Amino acid sequence: MPTVLSIADAVQQRFAQAISTAFPDATDSDPQLRRSDRADFQANGIMSLAKPLRTNPREVATRVLEHLAADGVIANLEISGPGFINVTVTDAAILERIAARAADTRLGVGSATEPGVTVIDYSQPNIAKEMHVGHLRSTIIGDALVRTLEFTGEKVIRRNHLGDWGTQFGMLIQYLVEHPDELGDDTESTDSGPSMSRLNRLYKASRAKFDGDGDFADRSRRRVVDLQAGNPDTVASWQGMVDESKVYFEAVYARLGVLLEDADAIGESYYNHMLADVCADLEASGVAVRSDGALCVFFDDIKGPDGEPTPLIVQKSDGGYGYATTDLAAIRDRVGMLGANQLLYVVDSRQALHFQMVFETARRAGWLPDDVRALHLGFGTVLGKNGKPFKTRSGETVRLMDLLDEAVDRARAVVSEKSPQLASEELEDRAKQVGIGAVKYADLSTSRTRDYIFDTDRMVSLNGDTGTYLQYAYARVQSILRKAPEGVAPTAHEDLALEPAERALGLLLDEFGATINQVTGTFEPHRLCAYLHNLASAYTTFYEHCPVLKAPTQEVTETRLLLCQLTGQTLRQGMDLLGIGTPERL
Ligand code: ARG
Repeated sequence: MPTVLSIADAVQQRFAQAISTAFPDATDSDPQLRRSDRADFQANGIMSLAKPLRTNPREVATRVLEHLAADGVIANLEISGPGFINVTVTDAAILERIAARAADTRLGVGSATEPGVTVIDYSQPNIAKEMHVGHLRSTIIGDALVRTLEFTGEKVIRRNHLGDWGTQFGMLIQYLVEHPDELGDDTESTDSGPSMSRLNRLYKASRAKFDGDGDFADRSRRRVVDLQAGNPDTVASWQGMVDESKVYFEAVYARLGVLLEDADAIGESYYNHMLADVCADLEASGVAVRSDGALCVFFDDIKGPDGEPTPLIVQKSDGGYGYATTDLAAIRDRVGMLGANQLLYVVDSRQALHFQMVFETARRAGWLPDDVRALHLGFGTVLGKNGKPFKTRSGETVRLMDLLDEAVDRARAVVSEKSPQLASEELEDRAKQVGIGAVKYADLSTSRTRDYIFDTDRMVSLNGDTGTYLQYAYARVQSILRKAPEGVAPTAHEDLALEPAERALGLLLDEFGATINQVTGTFEPHRLCAYLHNLASAYTTFYEHCPVLKAPTQEVTETRLLLCQLTGQTLRQGMDLLGIGTPERL
């Protein structure tokens, strides 16, 4: 808990106290306080309080008010409509908060007294395949959640569940063995895309041969057996592909500026040696049963389109294990070995059923006890301007690097128009922060489960709901702070009367802590985006109405400078939690 309660919490406490004093029998004393256009806050809870008391809401409101009085926080109270209570708070309370937040490195954000251990599974690209926009979403959302959870004190363990195992490797390795020239030195490596194009070609060529040549398909299947059995040459070939792909993934992560490291890359293969045991346990406990030779888990409520129950297959009839088995082994490992009490999966919404079945199976098997939370944090699809899933014109997946390059190019144009004098190195640095920030903000500001259209022109707009707008607001704040004359320091003069734009900005700054709690409570970074956007807009209004350096008195200047400073600190901290850079100038 921050040392100075937020204004909303302070008002809330006073109301809860008044309600329980006026109505000792009331079961719920929540005043349902909301920000309001008519006053600073409105208490809407009187209505739901009046119902069980069988009393007229205005009467209830009057009796609650008998136990509330103006004080250091509350300036004025008034009953409105059928039984709402409008609350205006004092300027002094706002100024006191601003001073306290600016002096606190955590800006009023509480930190968990009993932090838990969260294992978060995100990014998860597949070896020898191009990363696509789906992986972009998972990577960006996962990164923002990691940063926000860590900020509140949670211990977070990152798991990049690479798709590095499975029958397709038999085909890839076999093709490589038969076409050794595909190995060779890679001369196509560029700064943005090391050697993925070669692996892509390999994937396509081997797929085509696999689908069209039955003998090759058989040889590929035998190759899978060799891989499973740990045949040294086969494993070396597999390892080569994994390493080559990881170089590419790491280049994407570096360009994106996300926290993922090599140590977080614990792919599907890591769980390989646990799978037989997982299946044996499931079968012994009766959680899974044999059905047509396959080992299956059935669910009462999960049926296919034909009305027949759809099982989770943990072992195929040919003895092979699949995607689900690996996820079960991972749960056992994450809870049993890593001590997780919260498991998060940032994966496309289309995999909802898979996770529902996997979690339920793990619960039945006792690997996921009731006090461990497991959540699939699904997300929507990235669409092209035509409203269809984002693809190149020829229908292929868009290379992630190309997409990031495009955003940085657009950003370079915006930055160089604003600051034509910039030296090229600085221009590059800012273009990168603006372009990458724009991509991240566009993704994170859409509520997670919705689809959105990928439109780089809109993303880098200086005045819309964009990351660029936030960066611009931050740079403007910094520019004012730089211009403050010597001897004039940001300070809250607590007896000043505030202008409406100052009050609005101050009240919003005081909501940062509650906003962070919302994000960690719902795993929805778009709430932080919306908050920061409101903050930047409130700052713009303040800036237009309240001259800072040319204010009537030095006290007003100093107070306004403090508002600027805290706005800057809050924007920087908030954007950092989203993984978005804050250049000092734009
Ligand atoms: N690699 C998979 C894909 O590209 C996503 C893996 C999701 N994570 C998991 N634990 N199943 O679709």
